[in-house]
Amino acid sequence: MTKNELKMWLASLPKVELHLHIEGSLEPELMMALAEKHQVELPYGNIQEVKQAYNFENLQSFLDLYYFGASVLQDEDDFYQLMWHYLLKCKQDNVVHAEIMFDPQTHTQRGIGFEIFMAGFKRAMQQAEQEWGQSSLLIMSFLRHLSEASAIETLQAAKPYLEDICAVGLDSGELGNPPEKFVQVFEMAKSLGLKRVAHAGEEGPPEYVWGAINSLDVQRVDHGVRSIEDPKLIEYLKQSQLPLTVCPLSNTKLKVFDHMEQHNILVLLELGLMVTINADDPSYFGGYLNDNYFAVIDHLAIEQHHLLQLVTNSFNASFMSTALKVEWLSQLKGNE
Ligand code: HPA
Ligand code: ZN
Repeated sequence: MTKNELKMWLASLPKVELHLHIEGSLEPELMMALAEKHQVELPYGNIQEVKQAYNFENLQSFLDLYYFGASVLQDEDDFYQLMWHYLLKCKQDNVVHAEIMFDPQTHTQRGIGFEIFMAGFKRAMQQAEQEWGQSSLLIMSFLRHLSEASAIETLQAAKPYLEDICAVGLDSGELGNPPEKFVQVFEMAKSLGLKRVAHAGEEGPPEYVWGAINSLDVQRVDHGVRSIEDPKLIEYLKQSQLPLTVCPLSNTKLKVFDHMEQHNILVLLELGLMVTINADDPSYFGGYLNDNYFAVIDHLAIEQHHLLQLVTNSFNASFMSTALKVEWLSQLKGNE
């Protein structure tokens, strides 16, 4: 198959997205419209200028713009619009199931409570489910640059909404904020029946991946690409099949790898790890899920069987019910 044929085939497959920050799907058009609606002053004159600002040196330089962008999200309908636009992209990209992260502290710190964003998210998710059978779950992520006490307070505030939240996560600036800082809140989340994921090994060293595994008891590691530096960790990830949610365009945009040719996802896959492809913050990093697959098709020696394995992994690594998994995996088998 040519690269173009591979892309068309890939686009037609049902897929799962496991690492997506809903605040990172805020497109410049919606950002500007909401800024006007709420009279928020943005340092950008037009959409072109917003896009030009998205040139990042590292994770922190992105996070500064990402938290600032989120300040236009204020009422229930803003959160509905944000979620609805992302779910429409899922439909377009044939993402049949998405596990979507949100950062409550980004909003509660501005006086916007769970009742506002949860209602908006839920309305969009239910509508997409009714209109085209979209399946989706929510992951509540704690901001690791804030204290554990703040994360605990957030978990308490989320208690009336736990029926609509499947897992907790950990994101924001990784370096200097190791997983061990959040042991207590992750234990509390576990005892409330929540699953656990955490960003680790994006900018942080392999020790942070071990920390997420041993101290937070995670079911998945978000990113995890720096695991390659520790052979014992690679062996552990291979044996345990603990999934890594890898985000190729994010990793090159934030200079975890200088060029896509240097990305290690294919190496990790060939070593037998349970790796998956995801978009992370598509509006900031230049593409949604299919674009991330296309980027690796363009720049790595990736073949059809690798792609099928990555898509199969995305279902296996998800928190969807076993019955649903079996159903989708049998559909996928018809596409070999
Ligand atoms: N890493 C850490 N925090 C984040 C990210 C990321 O890739 N995206 C949004 N918050
Ligand atoms: Zn992320």
